[in-house]
Amino acid sequence: MTDSIPTVRLGEDGPQVGVQGLGCMGMSFGYGPADAEASRATLERALELGVTLYDTADMYGSGENERFLAPFFKAHRDEVVIATKFALSIPPDDPTKRIIRNDPPYIRQAVEASLQRLEVDVIDLYYMHRRDVNVPIEETVGTMAELVREGKVKHLGLSEVTADELRAAQAVHPIAAVQSEWSLFSRDIEPKVVPAARELGVALVPYSPLGRGFLTGGFVRADQDLTEGDTRRMIPRFTGDNAEANAALLEPVRAVAQAHGASLGQIALAWVQQRAAVHGLPVVPIPGTRKPTRVEENVAATRITLTEEELALLEPIAGQVAGNRYADMSFASAGRE
Ligand SMILES: NC(=O)c1ccc[n+]([C@@H]2O[C@H](COP(=O)([O-])OP(=O)(O)OC[C@H]3O[C@@H](n4cnc5c(N)ncnc54)[C@H](OP(=O)(O)O)[C@@H]3O)[C@@H](O)[C@H]2O)c1
Repeated sequence: MTDSIPTVRLGEDGPQVGVQGLGCMGMSFGYGPADAEASRATLERALELGVTLYDTADMYGSGENERFLAPFFKAHRDEVVIATKFALSIPPDDPTKRIIRNDPPYIRQAVEASLQRLEVDVIDLYYMHRRDVNVPIEETVGTMAELVREGKVKHLGLSEVTADELRAAQAVHPIAAVQSEWSLFSRDIEPKVVPAARELGVALVPYSPLGRGFLTGGFVRADQDLTEGDTRRMIPRFTGDNAEANAALLEPVRAVAQAHGASLGQIALAWVQQRAAVHGLPVVPIPGTRKPTRVEENVAATRITLTEEELALLEPIAGQVAGNRYADMSFASAGRE
């Protein structure tokens, strides 16, 4: 291992992980064609740099992402923390729709399928990917807790839950991490979810910390710049006039980047990482990439510290973003708070 990054614990009894994880979704799903060889090299490079938390879900490519990761996990089982998720699936007749299930029989069949695809005996961190409001959270987390007792899962996580849902869940079983979108563009979890997590000793795992690539300047109009079928074409803030207006919000990020001799993406990642100090809780962002040089660039952002003046310059951005982060905001905790 070269020049490893610091580590932090997820939750009071959760796994110890490098302060930046790796989002593996794009290797099989959502963001256009992926080069399997480059993705494999990215996984290996990440590990060399001290990245230990690898994030997938049964939904990504309908199981394909878990299958793709299995050989990497097998080769490095003792060095990696495997995080996967249940609850979401895509109906075969409409790729734009999502089905959410939180009921015990569904969870039981989902965990067996994930264990099989990942080719492991135990999942290190098992998340509820989305909340099905028709099932009491106590029932869902109760079943997840049984999986821990049965040795199928080590630690529990929840994605896009409200503060109240998190409190109710924690009363049933310790929750190691809440995974939610958190970036310079998406700060709706800060008023309620983040304080609840801090109070309960739960870590935050920000997903899409690079704004799904928008914050790197990699694209502006998803509806024009990205390929057919790319899921970002469904996100209101990345399409049409919203996207054009939002691109202008990157100007202060550019100024800060210049001052540090860094990229826009590195400033976006440093900002998320610094939320740990601002809010007083462990924060482990999971930027997604399929390229080894980008994982190097992203990991290097863990060594950037933004000044108070720079943080103040970046502060107004999220409040000025045009368009929501999902077409249907009930898909995010902020839509239910
Ligand atoms: N819980 C949930 O509901 C949820 C939702 C979304 C995502 N996630 C998880 O969070 C992970 C990360 O989120 P995300 O992938 O949506 O968004 P992200 O990390 O904000 O951005 C990923 C995008 O940025 C590009 N990128 C990464 N590093 C870059 C760099 N240094 N320079 C330029 N471009 C760069 C990637 O392209 P390349 O891949 O081509 O490098 C990709 O298009 C996912 O992989 C997934 O595991 C969870």
